[in-house]
Amino acid sequence: MITYPQQRTCPYHPASGYEELRDGTPLRKIRLVNGQEAWVVSGHDQARALLADPRVSADRTNAGFPMIVPPAVKAVHTSPNRPFIVRDDPEHNRVRRMLISEFTIRRLREMRPDIEQVVHDTIDTMLAAGPPTDLVTAFSLPVPSLVISRLLGVPYADHEFFEKATSDILRGRTPEVSVKATQDLIGYMTALAQDPPPGLIARLKADHVDTGAMTTDDLAFTALLLLGAGHETTASMITLSVITLLEHPEQLAAFRADPGTVPASVEELLRYLTIVESILRVAVDDIAIADVVIKAGEGIVIASSLVNRAADAFDDPDRFDLGREAAHHVAFGYGVHQCLGQNLARAELHLALPALFDRVPGLRLAAPVDELELRPIMTIQGVDALPVTW
Ligand code: HEM
Repeated sequence: MITYPQQRTCPYHPASGYEELRDGTPLRKIRLVNGQEAWVVSGHDQARALLADPRVSADRTNAGFPMIVPPAVKAVHTSPNRPFIVRDDPEHNRVRRMLISEFTIRRLREMRPDIEQVVHDTIDTMLAAGPPTDLVTAFSLPVPSLVISRLLGVPYADHEFFEKATSDILRGRTPEVSVKATQDLIGYMTALAQDPPPGLIARLKADHVDTGAMTTDDLAFTALLLLGAGHETTASMITLSVITLLEHPEQLAAFRADPGTVPASVEELLRYLTIVESILRVAVDDIAIADVVIKAGEGIVIASSLVNRAADAFDDPDRFDLGREAAHHVAFGYGVHQCLGQNLARAELHLALPALFDRVPGLRLAAPVDELELRPIMTIQGVDALPVTW
């Protein structure tokens, strides 16, 4: 019997073991890797309907919640101070509203010159060190890491610490490693939140903690979420985008030829790669949908990598086609929890990918794709290292 999730065998395709889930049945109840049963949703309309449905909860403390996450993530997501991404309205919206002005398209337009500078400085350093290199540590990780730490006011000098701690929380080799990383990062953020350097954390403190609307613990957990979500995801998108473009030379040629195609190309990359493979929810009331009834207390797993390859939503969905209209993908989720940082992520991808291919025209993989070690299930999909040369 099929289980969910399953390990990818190619960095840019959903697991081959999902074939059975792709017969057009939009949702079905199957066994998850942790032994729980849940509704796994692969239909595009159904995924969006459920993610927009107030009878569907993101609160991990609700009975029946499908906890297919590493133990340290579970500990953070069920703690009394858990961040707003794993809470329902009105608590979720109370914090989200405090942050929205930081991520508007107008704010991102103002940040673009800084992001561009970060991209070019990082490429300068990579070129000066010379080939071969690991693209993850030389480019994919430093760009979003520098951008988010500057936005938040987290000292970049601490980047090795917070990057490793985030990675250990999401992919800890052992529960002890993950628990220690979680404690260290919470301790770090709590200390920083007391007296933050200029930036988003300091603005939140002045506007909401000092006025009594938010506790320092809330601020620390919000900052922890923004720091982690802000660098791990975008770094992975940059790395997998580079692999996918290099593996599709005719698409890469088109990407290079016309800067006007970059925004649409990035939407196709987001769809095709779907680095956040699963969005987890639980029903808090009975929901009739697509000829089935999801009962209150039953888990719901939006299988985003399959939703983004649904044949009724995307023509010839397994084809990587930068020319297609892909913006209705669910790579950033949908509904009230839709990615708060999507404008920032897009700005970084729009600037980083063309600059990299432009300034390193001979860029190529230094290892065959099928020899790359892929990240395990239940984490942000990607590779931890990418040998490249030029
Ligand atoms: C390409 C990169 C990214 C991808 C694929 C991505 C994906 C996602 C997804 C799928 C969700 C929805 C989770 C859910 O519904 O349970 C989400 C939420 C979120 N993302 Fe991102 N994300 C990316 C970049 C970022 C960045 C750069 C930030 C910056 C701070 C960020 C911050 C957040 C936050 C705060 C939420 C929670 C929103 C809420 O619950 O209201 N993300 N992201």
